[in-house]
Amino acid sequence: MHTVTTIAEVRSLVAAWHAAGQRVAFVPTMGNLHAGHIHLVSEARRHADRVVASIFVNPLQFGVNEDFSAYPRTLAADQAELTAAGCDLLFAPGEQEMYPRGRDGLSFVEVPGLSDILCGAFRPGHFRGVATVVSKLFNIVRPDVALFGEKDYQQLLVIRRMVRELNMGLEVVGVPTVREADGLAMSSRNGYLQADERKLATEVYATLQAVAAGLRGGVTDYAALEAEAVARLERAGFRPDYVSVRRAEDLVVPPAGEQRLVVLAAARLGKTRLIDNLLINLD
Ligand code: PAJ
Repeated sequence: MHTVTTIAEVRSLVAAWHAAGQRVAFVPTMGNLHAGHIHLVSEARRHADRVVASIFVNPLQFGVNEDFSAYPRTLAADQAELTAAGCDLLFAPGEQEMYPRGRDGLSFVEVPGLSDILCGAFRPGHFRGVATVVSKLFNIVRPDVALFGEKDYQQLLVIRRMVRELNMGLEVVGVPTVREADGLAMSSRNGYLQADERKLATEVYATLQAVAAGLRGGVTDYAALEAEAVARLERAGFRPDYVSVRRAEDLVVPPAGEQRLVVLAAARLGKTRLIDNLLINLD
């Protein structure tokens, strides 16, 4: 696997592959790779001749009091995992390469509506930062297909809408969430959990499953299910931001009779913010 840090190097390698008629898949990440990320790379292999990954901890998507500085940076281990997974090229730019004019006053990409609800309401500017960096990465790599995890379901929908509305001309593939044996969704942020918190963390997925069971059992009072779920997380010691039942397609409050739902949750445990979601098809 090649590792490059400049836009010019990525451009020239990918251009050569495209010139040879090869299809290029792209997996953007912030590094500290785990089995969820690696699963995206393996899936990418099935969609293309070449796989490009990126590692860039994007300052634009972190709030002022969030974990940008603390975010784990483990480049050497990540390179070994990507190589083993069959990745062809890693783009790992520094901040100067991505934002040579600094962080302020930059052009940005905004996906209104979808970016302002749920996690967007608790992390103002987060999805603008994501949409902006992912647009830049798409313009740099020019992939034919890009893969994103359903773990960050709202992010996946923001990217899909951006690509469609701005005619970015690439395919976006969503990949199901990879979980630990006890159900906890894998995340780079799980490393922040203390041992006792790590045990409790399984409650997020368990709570989503309880909501799903309610929905499958015919409960249509979403507000009651959400309130029960929030109370359950609070009893377990979490500070929940939200638990919400939404239409899977676009995250609006489901109209009566909607069959394709997603339950999403975000909750803080100690200093760690955990998110998870569960897709439910009532058909
Ligand atoms: P990061 O959190 O590193 O995640 C990179 C990709 O891995 C995302 O598409 C995410 O949804 C996926 N992923 C994370 N955990 C997963 C799991 N347990 N199962 C399946 N997929 C998982 O998401 C970002 O980085 C950034 O916002 C980024 C898109 C790179 C823009 O900066």
